[in-house]
Amino acid sequence: MRSTINKYAIKCLSTFFPTKKPTLFQGLGATAKLTELMVVNGHKRPLIIVDGFLNANGAIKGTVESFTQAGCEVSVFDEVAANPTFKIVEDCLSLAIANKCDSVLVVGGGSAIDTAKVVSAALTNGAVSSKLIGMLKVKNPPLPLYAVPSTSGTGSEVTAIAVISDTSTHKKQFFIDPKYVPVSAALDPELIASLPPEMTSTTGMDALTHAIEAYTSTVKFSDAERDAVSAIRLLVKYLPIAYQDGSDLHAREMVALGSFLAGYAFSKTGLGYVHAISHQISAHYNTPHGLANAVILPKVLRYNQSVCQSRFAELERALATQPKSLDEKVLAADFIKRIDQLSEEVQIPATLEGLKDSDFDAIARDALSEAKESYAVPKVMKASNVKTILQAIVNGERNVVFA
Ligand SMILES: [Fe+2]
Repeated sequence: MRSTINKYAIKCLSTFFPTKKPTLFQGLGATAKLTELMVVNGHKRPLIIVDGFLNANGAIKGTVESFTQAGCEVSVFDEVAANPTFKIVEDCLSLAIANKCDSVLVVGGGSAIDTAKVVSAALTNGAVSSKLIGMLKVKNPPLPLYAVPSTSGTGSEVTAIAVISDTSTHKKQFFIDPKYVPVSAALDPELIASLPPEMTSTTGMDALTHAIEAYTSTVKFSDAERDAVSAIRLLVKYLPIAYQDGSDLHAREMVALGSFLAGYAFSKTGLGYVHAISHQISAHYNTPHGLANAVILPKVLRYNQSVCQSRFAELERALATQPKSLDEKVLAADFIKRIDQLSEEVQIPATLEGLKDSDFDAIARDALSEAKESYAVPKVMKASNVKTILQAIVNGERNVVFA
């Protein structure tokens, strides 16, 4: 029942407050083109928000030079951290206000992009970020935001959501509004090429999870569906290549595009139980988000198999050069095998360290609650189903049989 309510709530939200895709640049030189667009758009005082290590590696040197040559006055904020806090947002806001910045360029991972989303919106909405917590709280259009993601997984460069950690309550605060979506984004394979193999595989599997959860959501939009299928095709084909050889810039670009399309798809349809469970595991054990998703994904696919047979069969038909059968049941099973095989190719472990039986009740309760409040899932779980998944993770079993 609640899943049905979520279905209509998500459908209404995405219909009446649609997410607009950023103008996209991709391939070699994409960052330079984005910078040029900012200059052409008349921005004179850009604020660059960048991950500290990228700044130290000289990743934005060329960008700063281009702005300076065009007569712009650039401000740089590089004190971004994983799980950004309100303190970081406030520090960044102070710099932007003092330097009268007129636009924001973010170069970095999901945390940097989340920081930039909230900063650009706060700058035109009273400069108090805490007042923007929640859904549809951005009244005035944010300062124009441009994004260059340095990882391929979160899809943050195309989503309408940002997450900031409140250190006083130890809670993550969500900011949801289509106005957070950047004006334009650049998928620059040179920037992503330095991502280590383990991060490449786990963030890529996060993107794949976004696409599959979008495709199996009971909320349907034809454009989200099309992008989810494209994302799955791109990720299944190119993630193993990017994992094996990070310097393959074409593979990097295709994985980044897959992540972008998956981000757009799930921002319209919502997510599912893989994310509901992984969020709780990460909260308990600080497990990286992509890794937790990658380990849980094959198990939730098996849980959904009975109701998603047609959907999985469609995906198998989209992926297989020559589908082995006309039988949907066989095709659905082949799709799951294909994801197992991909997980092995990019060396996703079958287990996660540190899971304790004593936490199972709390993890199951909170995962069910998250799904019940937020997602339009194809098949509702019970606490016992979540615990079966957790036990399979402890046992190191990719396969799982539900009672
Ligand atoms: Fe995710």
